[in-house]
Amino acid sequence: MFVETLAKVDYSLRPITTLLPAPLIIRTYSFGRRWFLNRLFNSPPKEKILIPDKYSRKILGLEFQSPIFNAAGIFKEGFGYELAWREGAGAFLMGTITPSFRQGNRKDGYYLPFIPLPKSGSAINWLGLPNAGFEEIAKRVQNIEKHSGCPIGVSIAADPTAQGLDSLNGVLNGLEIFSNSQADFIELNESCPNVPHEHSDYHGSSIDSKLVERLEWISNNFLQKRKRHFPVIVKFSLDTKPEQIEELLRLLIDLGFDGVNFGNTSTDYEYYSQYLTNHEKQNFNYFTQKFGGGLSGEILKAKSLELCKIAQQLLAKIQPHNEFVIIRTGGISSADDLQASSDNLIMLNQWFSGYFENFAKNGHQLYSKILS
Ligand SMILES: Cc1cc2nc3c(=O)[nH]c(=O)nc-3n(C[C@H](O)[C@H](O)[C@H](O)COP(=O)(O)O)c2cc1C
Repeated sequence: MFVETLAKVDYSLRPITTLLPAPLIIRTYSFGRRWFLNRLFNSPPKEKILIPDKYSRKILGLEFQSPIFNAAGIFKEGFGYELAWREGAGAFLMGTITPSFRQGNRKDGYYLPFIPLPKSGSAINWLGLPNAGFEEIAKRVQNIEKHSGCPIGVSIAADPTAQGLDSLNGVLNGLEIFSNSQADFIELNESCPNVPHEHSDYHGSSIDSKLVERLEWISNNFLQKRKRHFPVIVKFSLDTKPEQIEELLRLLIDLGFDGVNFGNTSTDYEYYSQYLTNHEKQNFNYFTQKFGGGLSGEILKAKSLELCKIAQQLLAKIQPHNEFVIIRTGGISSADDLQASSDNLIMLNQWFSGYFENFAKNGHQLYSKILS
């Protein structure tokens, strides 16, 4: 009850906070987010909230009690399974986890900076993948008491400070560790804007050759050798160009990946700033000039639908031999959004910003409300 009331109060006060100086908002919310999340994970609803059977679906051999679940970044440290399952989430996605412990980004006295831009329903963060590392999180996976209808996904990424073979071996180690745990699927994060990624120098509309090399290597060294059913999907940025999707899909399907997620936060500041109010623009400019960061929330809704729609249409054309899933993430916050996904045959959705917005409105009933 306490976390629900707190979320409601915060939600009603947020629009006023836009008027405060940016440094104060960043400090308050960067600390407040973490404090709130720790309480939320330990406050699941007393009883499991019933999700009617008609919303459950079997995808990639896994049973999802509903078509929507949390995006990576909420359950970064692997705590909160009971909360997600009892609320009615289709799955529990932990991470993003990297090979070893990372404290995350810190600059000029700001730790894990985040700023809400509530009038436009968005936010921007520069967290930099704080997490406890593969070994520690795998122990936490083993401690979870699993329930049917709520599979465990683990979002993993390479160590941003490693390069070449070291970086690939790190990811391989993670895939092996989690495939030997009770995790059910992996989401490979190829898109965090807040840490460096290895890129080639080429910037055309073709996909990056270093990315192709990485995916091929993972296919040869892990996907083709899997000892059990263990789907691996790849999460890309919502800044992916529509014209790159066909090449990406064909590559992922040929290599034996099981799905794709569009996607991760955006760094297209110029494009999205048109949707911000004047006050928000000041805060946004302060944040992006100081840290950079990835944009999340409502303003990504149209883009996530556009990219997933294209992907789904291409999938119908390619007709892969094996099941391949398109997951939509970005700006999902309402029943209409889920309907738009389902109208375009997008069967799985993830939410981050929308989760908190709906939690403020409906508390633990948020899944049953958005589905009905
Ligand atoms: C504070 C914060 C932390 C995030 N951390 C991660 C992460 O660790 N891994 C990841 O793949 N995405 C991460 N994301 C991106 C979200 O998973 C999601 O892709 C993005 O926020 C767009 O969805 P939304 O519009 O529902 O927020 C994070 C987003 C936010 C706002």
